[in-house]
Amino acid sequence: MTATISQRSLPLPPGNLGLPLLGETLNFLYDTHYVEKRQKQYGSIFKTSLFGYPTAIAIGAETNHQLFTQEKMHLTSRWPECTKALLGTGSLLIQTGNAHQNRRKIFHKVFQPKIIEQSFSSIESISRSYLDKWERMGTLSWFPELSKFSLDVACKFLISLDTFNDEHFSKLFEKWGDGLFSIPISLPWTKFGRALHCRKQLLIRIEKIITERQSQQHPGQDLLGILLQAQDEDGNKLSLQEVKEQVLTFLFGGHDTAASTLTSMCIFLAQSPEVLANARAEQRQLGLEEPLTVERLKQMNYLEQVLKEVLRVNPPGAFGFRRVTKEFELNGYRIPQDWTVVYYFKRTHQDTSVYKQPECFDPQRFAPERAEDKAKPFSYLPFGGGLRECPGKEFAKLEMKLLAAMLLREYEWELEPGQNLNFVQFPTPYPYDGLRVKFRRLAS
Ligand code: HEM
Repeated sequence: MTATISQRSLPLPPGNLGLPLLGETLNFLYDTHYVEKRQKQYGSIFKTSLFGYPTAIAIGAETNHQLFTQEKMHLTSRWPECTKALLGTGSLLIQTGNAHQNRRKIFHKVFQPKIIEQSFSSIESISRSYLDKWERMGTLSWFPELSKFSLDVACKFLISLDTFNDEHFSKLFEKWGDGLFSIPISLPWTKFGRALHCRKQLLIRIEKIITERQSQQHPGQDLLGILLQAQDEDGNKLSLQEVKEQVLTFLFGGHDTAASTLTSMCIFLAQSPEVLANARAEQRQLGLEEPLTVERLKQMNYLEQVLKEVLRVNPPGAFGFRRVTKEFELNGYRIPQDWTVVYYFKRTHQDTSVYKQPECFDPQRFAPERAEDKAKPFSYLPFGGGLRECPGKEFAKLEMKLLAAMLLREYEWELEPGQNLNFVQFPTPYPYDGLRVKFRRLAS
């Protein structure tokens, strides 16, 4: 009782709800510096209105800690209507409560270290096909290629499907992804309308894959096989619609995030000759003639730091959305029931009380003697945290590290002049002009 009264007397976070209906949704979608500007204006928790709901945007390690410890009691999933419509209610991102926990346990079986490590040789062979292709191309727009690469890797690992160079499949994903954060007006020429159309086509394609699998004697041990054998919290098999939407979710979650991170890495390395030289030196030290193995990847500490720093500076997710199920207190502010909370960890990664010169790309900040992220728990969250931490993070790390090692050992790339390297932010960051490079084998 006392707690409720004292909570009621707490202020709402400072801020501005913006325009009627739209709130500040357009600023959030189109102004890259929107969150930074409001943080400077109001502090690390501020109110606004996004996608039709009053929203608290929360930044900082302590705030993240408070959010995750109160998550079970006070928060559940809430993505904007456009995201929800495109993913579907059968998607892990949209599921809540027992259903969500039950599915997390099911998916856990797919992402065990042993299973992930078994995918090493198929990732290596897909990487080799793309590296050969890029070498033949000589000049290329790299982000769309990395996106195809990571879609192939995800398809192989999750549903045992070979999709090398399947332009149609990757284009459908691209247009579908464009609508994930958009104004939910469904007309043939709006982003959202086009994305809904692509969702239909993707689900038709996924259903065909499921039917083929069901005609086989054994369902298999990949994500699709496990979904087909799984039971829900009431002991029933999962519906066909849910299996389709879960596959769609994981294929999306599993590819553009890695493509975005690899793209940022290739830009940052091209712009930081010293870091690139150190990363190449590590590869030479470990022996360029030695075959790549899971064990050898684990010895690449500097490359690990490079990828960690890329994910600090330009995390593909940037934030997570939650709905407040019960009013609660956050850092002295009252956050009312049914508000949205966005934990915006991309800005937490810029906290000067944790990271020295956070605007600089400096992989050494993660060296054991500095380990800046260790000073404050919850200050480094590229894979999110709490009940919804990314289930695919170890798989993504393996895939990215393997391709990065192959690039560093054998290839060089040069950024084409005159291109726009600023990042489009949604659904995951990628440079406006797609990253145009000259790509060739390293002179020996
Ligand atoms: C660089 C690679 C990746 C990054 C940076 C990343 C980032 C994230 C983040 C930040 C979240 C949490 C969002 C939240 O708090 O609501 C998340 C959740 C998720 N990720 Fe990833 N991810 C990556 C790769 C992957 C891969 C490879 C897969 C699958 C193969 C995957 C599947 C998912 C799914 C299904 C969720 C939803 C979890 C839930 O709601 O319980 N991600 N990811």
